[in-house]
Amino acid sequence: MRRAPRANPYRDSWAGDLSADSAGSRARVSGWVHNRRDHGGLIFIDLRDRAGIVQLVFHPQNGAELFAAAEKLRSEYVVSVAGDVVLREQGNVNPELATGEIEIQARQVTVLARSATPPFPLDGDVELDEMTRLRHRTLDLRRRYMVDALVLRHEVVRTIRETLSDEDFLEVETPILTRSTPEGARDFLVPARLSPGNFYALPQSPQLFKQLLMIAGYERYFQIARCFRDEDLRADRQPEFTQLDLEMSFVDEDDVIDVNERLMAKVFELGGLDLPAPPYERMAYDEALLRFGSDRPDRRFGLEITDVSEHLRASQFKVFASVVGGGGVVRAINAGQREVPRKELDELTEVARRAGAGGLVWAFVQEDGTWRSPIAKFLSHEEIAAVTAALGAQPGELLLAVADSAAVAANALGVLRLELAERWKLVAAGRHDVLWVVDFPMFDRNEDEHRWDALHHPFTAPTAPTGTSAEDLEADGGGPGSWRSRAYDLVVDGWELGGGSIRIHDPAVQRKVFEAIGMDEDEAEQRFGFLLEALRFGAPPHGGIAFGIDRIVTLLAGRDSIRDVIAFPKTASGSDPLTGAPAPVDAKQLRELGLRSTAAPGG
Ligand code: AMO
Repeated sequence: MRRAPRANPYRDSWAGDLSADSAGSRARVSGWVHNRRDHGGLIFIDLRDRAGIVQLVFHPQNGAELFAAAEKLRSEYVVSVAGDVVLREQGNVNPELATGEIEIQARQVTVLARSATPPFPLDGDVELDEMTRLRHRTLDLRRRYMVDALVLRHEVVRTIRETLSDEDFLEVETPILTRSTPEGARDFLVPARLSPGNFYALPQSPQLFKQLLMIAGYERYFQIARCFRDEDLRADRQPEFTQLDLEMSFVDEDDVIDVNERLMAKVFELGGLDLPAPPYERMAYDEALLRFGSDRPDRRFGLEITDVSEHLRASQFKVFASVVGGGGVVRAINAGQREVPRKELDELTEVARRAGAGGLVWAFVQEDGTWRSPIAKFLSHEEIAAVTAALGAQPGELLLAVADSAAVAANALGVLRLELAERWKLVAAGRHDVLWVVDFPMFDRNEDEHRWDALHHPFTAPTAPTGTSAEDLEADGGGPGSWRSRAYDLVVDGWELGGGSIRIHDPAVQRKVFEAIGMDEDEAEQRFGFLLEALRFGAPPHGGIAFGIDRIVTLLAGRDSIRDVIAFPKTASGSDPLTGAPAPVDAKQLRELGLRSTAAPGG
């Protein structure tokens, strides 16, 4: 329960907190006119403050002047009203409203501010165009929908701060104006006036600073950190977003996972998510890719992927035989009992194509076990029987298959199963799932640039079958492509909520990883010399993680977009319709910065 506000000329009670307990007393409340209804000579006003809504009733017999003032009230006027809190008659109780048992018989009203007519109603659940909402964000933020999200967000951050403080973590701030940090996105740059021609980069994460704090001996650090990444935006991404960033010393994977599971279990409770208690299941990256076609598997519906390559290696059907013979795979999903028309099969084929596959094979299992499929005539009875059995398929069920490299087949079927879940509404309401994905490869091959890219970031500790030291990595015959990393991601409902790793604390290993990603000693020294130097002065073993706070709150609030849990978000094109940012600047400002723009400012 909220503490009552200090009584002053504006109010002595929160409008939304009045209850039957206050009946019989006098109250003064302040807030916005949520709506006004004129009924049989009475005027009803819903008055809204942050706590909620209370109904005010204006009777003509309480004074002509008062009633006339009430008649003039319009939506979003700011008023202070004093009156008697009374119980509503039984039939008039509104169970939808926390204050629905009472109302205030108004005795006095003061208009504190008038309002122009809002561009959209604030008192309903009408679907609003997002651009309109963002353009008029101040009004949009008045809606319960947004208040609820921001209150929940506060509770999440409060729980994080309290829990981690109790676990001996220190909150430390790190710079916003800094040097490029490598999280794999493009940097936002800030020209340095005092050092013409030079730029600060906004941090993509506090990664290096938190490692420096560990080397400095702080042992357990956290921060609610703003991060900036200039990347293509989606519903789950913003150019600036907030992380819970944390790091610990003298730990291994289990220590980091343990403390974070305890924390996250508390956070998930805030949204009432029905999740198993920790410890959460861990799944190896390879298994996630094989069974779900993604390193952030959504396990809330079936449609698991099965590798059927072995049954088709010797097939007369050339496409399968040559793909499998060439080191590729055939993988398939049993999509269940479905009457899927040809048109929809074509659409699904297009989904697989857009996800990189050459095509999609479909087959309906018939009563006699044969297939109705464009490729049925190319396959032997034995092959059809073996694939049907591998997929556990029954007559009437639809099978969907992709033949390609393992990576392409995994991705295409991974995308396809999400599409099917969406189309066929396969996720039961209230169903949630959590797991850790572990045992990632250290690198991804970047064929265009002929080098390895770190799958997490290049400060993640690698492991080779032979061990984890620089000598072990050197001795490993498989090379960087065979190294795994000591990384872990927390995945909920197919969303990557957080990711982290045990870090490299040996400068020789760090140099090996830089070398693998094609960074020579000079460049490593120039970009990360400060880290390499710190590593030479006694770095403890350390590791940590970062969670996307926006994503966590979106999940807890059951929203579709992270923009709905950020007070002032950017649109998908990175602009802010409220302030008009990004915007052109004065020529004088550019001159002072030693800059000249070659682009005409766009609208
Ligand atoms: P990573 O890049 O995986 O790791 O980020 C951690 C988490 O931050 C969230 N996130 C985002 N949320 C909204 N918009 C974005 N553009 C965005 N990008 C990332 C995700 C993600 O899981 N320094 C490492 C962490 C570490 O190793 O400790 C890092 O930043 O929820």
